[in-house]
Amino acid sequence: MGQKQSAAGSHKNIAYRPLSDRLTGYAEQRASDKERLHAIMRRYSKRVVEFTQQLLSPYAGSLKVDFASFRPQQEAGRQIRQRARNDLLHVDSFPTRPSNGNRILRVFTNINPTEPRVWLTSETFEELAPRFAGAGGMPPPRPVASGPRKVLIELARAARLHSLARSPYDNWMLSFHHFLKANQEFQEKCARRQWEFPPQTTWLVFTDMVSHAVLSGQFALEQTFIVSKNVLVLPEKAPVRILERIAGCQLV
Ligand SMILES: [Fe+2]
Repeated sequence: MGQKQSAAGSHKNIAYRPLSDRLTGYAEQRASDKERLHAIMRRYSKRVVEFTQQLLSPYAGSLKVDFASFRPQQEAGRQIRQRARNDLLHVDSFPTRPSNGNRILRVFTNINPTEPRVWLTSETFEELAPRFAGAGGMPPPRPVASGPRKVLIELARAARLHSLARSPYDNWMLSFHHFLKANQEFQEKCARRQWEFPPQTTWLVFTDMVSHAVLSGQFALEQTFIVSKNVLVLPEKAPVRILERIAGCQLV
């Protein structure tokens, strides 16, 4: 827990990439510390993958293992740019890793020995999207590109230029993430529930569905999964399907 994260503003947490076994965002102190942290992250990631495959057995064969993270900073009063703030309610959308309509499932573990991790949740995407899309302040999603724009987007995707290759779904979700964080009225007046996750607790959240914020807490581990939209037990609950129903067109 004494490990520091890199001071560079680009790193919000210490990240671990299970597929390449790489640790980033770590402020080098002693080499032996880095090795120990790396081993802990590797083991945490492996155990969470096994646990989640057992718990959510219908998804066992199709969970895509994304990044894991260690969150060594106290969340209360953290000075960070608005869009990166964890204490403002939002639904997740990754700016550099578009999901193309697949789900974001995250597993968190509070490893603080004494303090709880305190979350706030508000309504789900299913309730928020119809309220804010269109008349509620967010422009309606644009349909999938066709003709020359489609060719351009496919070239950008092949060249891994993610910001140009984003689907209309990903564009809308990222705008919605920013919109909710900047919406003071929503932040102050929305329905809310506070959760206290005691030390040693693990919890799982579809963070693209549940609007959430972290009010306080220090020292948490987290593993992200991407769940294909094609294997969902309740496909109609996927944000992409909800948004497509609102827009009346295909968005990925
Ligand atoms: Fe989040």
